[in-house]
Amino acid sequence: AVASVTETKLMGFTQVPASTADTFVVPEGYVAEPLISWGDPILADAPEFDPSGSQSAAAQAGQFGDNTDGMSFFPLSASHAVLAVNNEYTNYEYLFSHQGKEALSAEDVKNAQAAVGISVFEIKRNDQGQWKVEKGARLNRRITANTPMQLTGPAAGHDLLKTAADSTGTQALGTFNNCANGQTPWGTYLTCEENFNGFFGASAEGFTPNAQQKRYGLKAKSSYQWFTQDSRFDMSQNPNEPNRHGWVVEIDPMDPTSTPKKRTALGRFKHENAAVTVDDSGHVVVYLGDDERGEHLYKFVSRNTYNPDNMAANRDLLEDGTLYVAKFSAADGEIKGQGEWLELTHGKNGLTEANGFQSQADVLIFAREAATQVGATTMDRPEWVAVHPNRTTVFCTLTNNKNRGVEGMDQPVGGPNPRAKNNYGQIVRWWPRGGDHTGTRFDWDLFAIAGNPTVQEGLYAGSDNINADNMFNSPDGVGFDNSGRLWIQTDGKYSNEGEFAGMGNNQMLCADPQSGEIRRFATGPIACEITGLAFSPDQRSVFIGVQHPGEDLAPSHFPAGGNSKPRSTIMVVRRQDNGVIGA
Ligand code: FEO
Ligand code: CA
Ligand code: CA
Ligand code: CA
Repeated sequence: AVASVTETKLMGFTQVPASTADTFVVPEGYVAEPLISWGDPILADAPEFDPSGSQSAAAQAGQFGDNTDGMSFFPLSASHAVLAVNNEYTNYEYLFSHQGKEALSAEDVKNAQAAVGISVFEIKRNDQGQWKVEKGARLNRRITANTPMQLTGPAAGHDLLKTAADSTGTQALGTFNNCANGQTPWGTYLTCEENFNGFFGASAEGFTPNAQQKRYGLKAKSSYQWFTQDSRFDMSQNPNEPNRHGWVVEIDPMDPTSTPKKRTALGRFKHENAAVTVDDSGHVVVYLGDDERGEHLYKFVSRNTYNPDNMAANRDLLEDGTLYVAKFSAADGEIKGQGEWLELTHGKNGLTEANGFQSQADVLIFAREAATQVGATTMDRPEWVAVHPNRTTVFCTLTNNKNRGVEGMDQPVGGPNPRAKNNYGQIVRWWPRGGDHTGTRFDWDLFAIAGNPTVQEGLYAGSDNINADNMFNSPDGVGFDNSGRLWIQTDGKYSNEGEFAGMGNNQMLCADPQSGEIRRFATGPIACEITGLAFSPDQRSVFIGVQHPGEDLAPSHFPAGGNSKPRSTIMVVRRQDNGVIGA
């Protein structure tokens, strides 16, 4: 394309200041309205939300789940769509009248299991440009911690996936701690199982997790207590059940009777999101972060190629392919350099029986250990990955890592993780060599190093594109719109004090990947995280998740105000002049 002399800048809005208010703030000329909050009814027979904390599990199973997170927009027409949304976990301090201070009853556990998973629902846009939920619509569906699912791919049917209730190792129940997401070009939704370990516990006296359970954070004590009422979550009775979680799950949002499929070819770890792109060769490439201090960044390359003329033929592209993990390198003191994708295939790179890997199923079920075996780089908590719409560059948020550089942690300072005790986070960017997403070489730099220039110096003040007016900490959600604006959401410290002074509540920012400029676009209410974003294809509406306002009983009454119970809520933002968001 020929650049015009009157070319407008990518970002046209006036940024908003940092905020500590209990509101959702957007730039001048924009409006933000709640679409749906935790407990709003989705299914036809579901009741209205009862804030008393004594709703039944059956009521919750027909309502929007708690802790809205990653989401995707599936258009049906210009003013009609399906939204698929993750409900990551639930806040016992608000779910139960006893605030989680008592031992859970069997009904409490069922209620919590119904409050997580996925919510799928139809939405329609009216003449005023407002989107509304269509309660009871044909495609509306709740997927919970008890919904039947199929395990597919190379690990399906392996002994490590078999349980007393499922001798086939292929029929799992449920999904939970669904963090962020992905969307395939063949119209399916990908939901990523992240901190699944927190839902398991062990009743046996003296239970101690083995090395593999430890690597995945599994412990006898469990904050969610499900194992006390549901033996499936008791590792002393069902040691293999945790192996059936920690996967990417593919869901067809257009068929509410379809069985979700856990895609074992994409590896088992604490999945953050699944950034899907189709390489020039037709292979589908999925970039995947494992959000834990010192864990890794992965990519999957499909064996078969995408067929744009036959959507049904693409249905199982994620069942078979090659998993890789990233190794970054840099010259001493440089924060840019080269990288390599190391193949995680049984029999290669030391993934052998001699090293404890009996099969490809072993490699995938214990992908973290495989990544260590091949020498992958330990990262500062890889969160979301986003591929630029022109497919030349890929971005990943590294949210923070207090263990970086700490003695005995085996997480040395350097490369894309350049700061010890990293409380602010950074965004790494890479260019696949030759534009080939299936290849093994790339070049990288840091797009932004978050920091606080008002109270810090050097690298802790942040990169040149961070200043007193746009500073933030802990970048997490990240995504591109079709025009190439990069949107950044934060899940950080909101104390607004000390090293976080002046940053205020969690927020959403917009960046120009070319110039590096970053502007604050929105600020959230008290004690929330901003996570989850989806644009309507016309870019006139953006859906933004406000997760856990008022967590740990912080004084929020978002969104209804007054004395109301705070509720996770999806906000829809549009422009008063109906223009393109961000332009
Ligand atoms: Fe669910 Fe890593 O955030
Ligand atoms: Ca996140
Ligand atoms: Ca986070
Ligand atoms: Ca969260």
